Amino acid sequence: MRYAAITDRLDGLGGAKWAVHALARHMAAEGHDIIELTIGEPDVPTPAVLIEAATAAMAAGRTGYSNGRGEPALTQALAARYTARRGRLIGADQVMCLPGTQTTLFAVLMALLGPGDEVLVGDPMYATYAGLIAATGAKMVPVPLRAEHGFRMQAADVASRVTPRTRVLFLNTPHNPTGAVLARSDIAALADIAVAQDLWILCDEVYEDMVFEGTKFASPMDDPALADRVIVASSISKSHAAPGFRSGWCVGPAEFCARLLSLSETMLFGSQPFIADMTAMAVSAPSPVAAGMAERFKRRAELIFDVLDGRAGLRVNRPEAGMFALVDVSATGLTGEAFAMGLLKDKQVAVMPGESFGDALAGWIRLSLTQDDARIVEACGRILCQATGLQERAA
Ligand SMILES: Cc1ncc(COP(=O)(O)O)c(C=O)c1O
Repeated sequence: MRYAAITDRLDGLGGAKWAVHALARHMAAEGHDIIELTIGEPDVPTPAVLIEAATAAMAAGRTGYSNGRGEPALTQALAARYTARRGRLIGADQVMCLPGTQTTLFAVLMALLGPGDEVLVGDPMYATYAGLIAATGAKMVPVPLRAEHGFRMQAADVASRVTPRTRVLFLNTPHNPTGAVLARSDIAALADIAVAQDLWILCDEVYEDMVFEGTKFASPMDDPALADRVIVASSISKSHAAPGFRSGWCVGPAEFCARLLSLSETMLFGSQPFIADMTAMAVSAPSPVAAGMAERFKRRAELIFDVLDGRAGLRVNRPEAGMFALVDVSATGLTGEAFAMGLLKDKQVAVMPGESFGDALAGWIRLSLTQDDARIVEACGRILCQATGLQERAA
């Protein structure tokens, strides 16, 4: 039988990146005591008040069809939140609710890109971005994010990659996997290029509420001069420890949202009113869990730094936000993939290979910060032991 080209474009972009994680889960199911530092699940349950709000809404009959944009109470709550945070008026007609940041990014990119177009995106990048872009048929143009610049995107690296076909500058701040947070000045320099070249700016801000103490979040949406070209995407998955609810949104120009509406209605035919009610409550007050996660994740990143940085040739990148820390294992002579696979088999610690996030992280591994402090320290001890053993064998 014949299939559409999109299935070819996405072929191989899914499973291979997660091979270590999949094997770790398999080994755990067989009874091995694996320290799992692969994926970014929040380390606390969804707050009880939100579960109760969703349950009460279901019991109250909020289980019928919805509309394609999102329940009015939620689009209004999000408009109020972004108006307060960005310091300029954002209307409910500038909001679209979709199931999670992932679906939102998919829909937004489908609305902006097609075959022949180019999209600039930082490398390393979140593991699903290559697939999101490939789905549209557009060409992904990686912009290297370098450790020496704190993994923050540099305007000169963007400028040298813009062509007449470039349509979208795809940002992610706070960034996964590097934990980098773009400064206001970084955004201003990138914005100058976007304006000069008439580009859309799409910004994935799913970690906005998980910025560590000492770092300040900035969004391209802060700048009113960019109002007609910026779209931000986010959700309650991380901020409210609620990834399974699949509740996200984008905020952008009203005309863009009107265009996206037909796509959303065609794809989804509306959302779930009981989830919308719970999300409206969630986004109308500070998250009860985000600050605690940010504090714990910062502390654990410091623990990793203290145990590993400068030992056995390892180098640790200190994140400014989010759920992950990066370790450069290239001194062992192995790729991130080979190191991660060996670490799992020899020491029962599961980490993500840097290569799963793009060529720029070859020779790195990513550790999630979501296990408790003692498990993190234990995992670091095993990582150090593995790295030392590899170096001794090589010597
Ligand atoms: C950068 C980034 N964007 C999007 C997502 C997906 O978020 P959501 O659960 O809202 O779809 C993740 C999840 O890990 C992420 O790290």
